[in-house]
Amino acid sequence: MHEEFPTDSPAVVTCGLPYANGDLHVGHLRTYVSGDAYSRALERLGQSVAFVCGSDMHGTPIAVNAAEEGVDPETFALEYHEQYEETFPKFNVEFDNYGHTHDATNTEMTRSFVRSWIDNDHVFEKEIEVAWDAETDQPLPDRFVEGTCPYCGETARGDECDDGCQRHLEPGEIEAPVSTITGNPAEYRTRPHKFLRLSDLQEYLQGFIDRLEGTDNAKNQPREWIEGELQDLCITRDMDWGIDYPSEGAAAGEGGDDLVLYVWVDAPIEYVSSTKQYSERVGSDEYDWEAVWKDHSDPDSEVPEGGEILHVIGHDIIQHHTVFWPAMLRGAGFNEPRAVMACGFVNLDGEAFSTSRNRAVWADDYVESGLDPDLYRYHIVTGSEFTADVDFSWDGLQERVNNELVGTLGNFLYRSLLFAERNYDGTPETGTSETVEGEIEAAIEAFQEAVDAYRVRGLGRAPVELAKFGNEYIQRHEPWKLTDDDPEKAAQVIRDCVQLSKAIAVLMEPVLPGKADALWTQLGEPGSVGDVGLEAALSSPPDEFGEPEELFEKIEDDRVDELNRQLAERVEAAGGDGEDGPNGETDGPNGETDGPNGETDGPNGETDGSKDGADVPDIEPITDDRVGFEEFKHLDLRVAEVLSAESIEGADKLAKLEVDVGVETRQIVAGIKQLHDLESLPGTRIVIVANLEKSELFGVESNGMLLAAGEEADLLTTHGDSAPGTKIQ
Ligand code: 2FM
Ligand code: ZN
Repeated sequence: MHEEFPTDSPAVVTCGLPYANGDLHVGHLRTYVSGDAYSRALERLGQSVAFVCGSDMHGTPIAVNAAEEGVDPETFALEYHEQYEETFPKFNVEFDNYGHTHDATNTEMTRSFVRSWIDNDHVFEKEIEVAWDAETDQPLPDRFVEGTCPYCGETARGDECDDGCQRHLEPGEIEAPVSTITGNPAEYRTRPHKFLRLSDLQEYLQGFIDRLEGTDNAKNQPREWIEGELQDLCITRDMDWGIDYPSEGAAAGEGGDDLVLYVWVDAPIEYVSSTKQYSERVGSDEYDWEAVWKDHSDPDSEVPEGGEILHVIGHDIIQHHTVFWPAMLRGAGFNEPRAVMACGFVNLDGEAFSTSRNRAVWADDYVESGLDPDLYRYHIVTGSEFTADVDFSWDGLQERVNNELVGTLGNFLYRSLLFAERNYDGTPETGTSETVEGEIEAAIEAFQEAVDAYRVRGLGRAPVELAKFGNEYIQRHEPWKLTDDDPEKAAQVIRDCVQLSKAIAVLMEPVLPGKADALWTQLGEPGSVGDVGLEAALSSPPDEFGEPEELFEKIEDDRVDELNRQLAERVEAAGGDGEDGPNGETDGPNGETDGPNGETDGPNGETDGSKDGADVPDIEPITDDRVGFEEFKHLDLRVAEVLSAESIEGADKLAKLEVDVGVETRQIVAGIKQLHDLESLPGTRIVIVANLEKSELFGVESNGMLLAAGEEADLLTTHGDSAPGTKIQ
C-alpha cells in the first residue's frame, strides 16, 4: 500500500519517449499534456516532483528513415529531437528535463544497467535464428522484417504486433517473414544474442503487479503475461545504430562485441538519465535522482524502496512498462514504478489519424491557428476518461470551448471580477461564507481524489464544476439587486465569488496553466499560480485589483469552417491531386505518401495514446457486384520485371518505372516514390495491368499499371519465378 500524495519522498513523472522520427500531431500530444497536467497537480498538492522525458533516438524505424533520406541516423534523429524540444513548450508542456537516449548520460547509464545485470547473473547468451535478407546479405532486426504474428495471425512488423494483439515479438518469432528492404521472403540464420533472464524475476514481478497503482488497463493487462510463462528478453540486435552492448569486463565507455542494445533497453533508462540531468542542474539538495530511482530498502527485502515513480504512456506500451521495465530496474538494484497511467488513442473527427493521407492536425497547424494551447489541453484532457479513446476535431474543440470555457468558466470569472472591481475596487472587505468555503473544500477534495485515482480528466473537471456552482450562486443571489437594499449581503456574495475565482485559478492550473496565470494576475496576485499549493484556494485574495479581461474568447463558426477546409484540402492534396494511382484514379497504394513518420508510427501510437491508423487499413467489405469470367479475361495481367525506377521531378509521390513485359519494355508511372526505395526495385518481379488505357501523369506517359496492396503499396509479386510477360490468370 502506498501513502497518499503528497508523500515525503520526491516523485518523478515521465512520459513515453517519442521516437525522433517525424513531426508531432495533436494526437501525439495527449500523453505529454496529460503527464504535464498530472505533474502540475502533484505540485499543487505539495509533492516534490520532477517531470522528465526525452527523445527516443535509436531503433530500426529511425535507421530506415535516415537511410531513405540519405543522412546518418544521428543527424536525422537530432533534428527531430530539437524540433520536439521546441514544440512541447508551445503546448505549455514544461519538462524539467528533456534529454535524449543517445546522449552521454544515457549511454553511460544504460551501460551501467547492463553491467549490473551481468554482475547479478541475469544475462545469458543464446544462439537464435534471426531473419536474414539473402539478397543484401544482412540481418533483419525489428522493423526490417514483416510477417504474421504467431499469437493472433495479424500482420506484424518486427518486434511488435501493433495491428493485432499488440504483443512484443522476440527476434525470430514472426512467421512468414519478408524483408522490408527487398520485399523478398526472409531466411533465418543463426546468430549469438544476449538475453535478460526475465524468468529469474517472475516471482518478483508477480508481487510487483499487486503493488502497482495507476489505471486499470495497466494494472490488469500484464497479469496474463506475468502469470504465464515469461519469455526471456533478447536485449541485443545486429545493427550499427544504437548503444553498443558492453562486453563483460569492458571498462566504462567501451563498447563490446558486434551488437547494439535493443532500443527498448536504453529508452526507458532515459527516464533515469533525464532525472539525473535535472538533479545535476538544480543540485541534489533540491532534487536527488538517486533518492527516487535507487532501491534504498534492506538488501534482503523483496520490495524496493525509493521515491514515487509514475509513468504516463499510451496503452500500446503497457507490456514494456509493467513487465520488461520493472524487471530491468529490479535486476540492476533500482526502485520500481509506483504507478503506470496508460491512456487511450486519439481519433481525428471520428477516424484514426492517417499520416499517409496527411489526415492529421499537426502540432504546427494548431500553433499557426493562433488558438491558445490551453484550449487544446482542456479538450484532450476532459474529452474522455483517460483510459478511453478521445476524439479531436475543430468542431469538438469549438463546442467545448464555447460551452464550457467561455459559457461556464469565463462567464463566471468575468462577471464576478468585473462586479468586484467596479463596486469594491477588488475584494470586498468581509470573510468568505461557510457555504462557499465548504464548496471550495469539496472541489479540493475532488481534485485530490482525481490525483489519487490517476484520473487526469477529473483535474480538468474540478474547476469547471466550481464555476458552475459559482454561476448558480451569483444567479441565485443577484448581488446587482442588493447593492442598494442590502449592501452587506451584496459584499458577501461578491467576496464569495472572488474567493471562488481564486480557487478556480489554483484548481485550473494543471490543465489550463497559461489561463490560470492570466487569472492569477487579474486577481492582483504576485508571481505564478504554478508556485502555490492548493491551500491558496482558501486564502484571501488581494484587496485591490484592476478591471478584468475576458479569459476566453468564443471560437466563431467561420473560423472552424476555415480550419476544416484547410484539413480537407490537405487530405485531398495527399490523396486526390491527380498523383494518386498509376493512372491518377485511385486513393490506393499508389497515391499514398508515407507521411513524415515513414513506415513507422513515430511517436504517435506507441507513446502517447494516439494510434496512427495509417498502417491499419480498414478492411472493406467484399463487393456484391460480381463480374463474369469473360469480363475478368479482358484484363491482361502480366508478370513484369522492373528494369529501372526513378523519381519524377516535381511530383511528391510519382516514380517512373521501366519494366520488361517479355515482349517489350514498358514505361509505367506509379505513386510509390515515398513508399519504396527506388534503387532497390530493379530486378523485382511485379504484376501489371498491361492493357489499361495509356495516361499521362506530370507530363510522363504511363503505359500500364502496377498492382499493389494497401496503403503501403505492398507490391504484388509472384511466388515462383515466372518469366516476364507470363500471363496471369
Ligand atoms: O513506442 C514508442 O514510441 C517508444 N519510443 C516509447 C519509449 S517509452 C520508454 F520506455 F522509453
Ligand atoms: Zn498478434
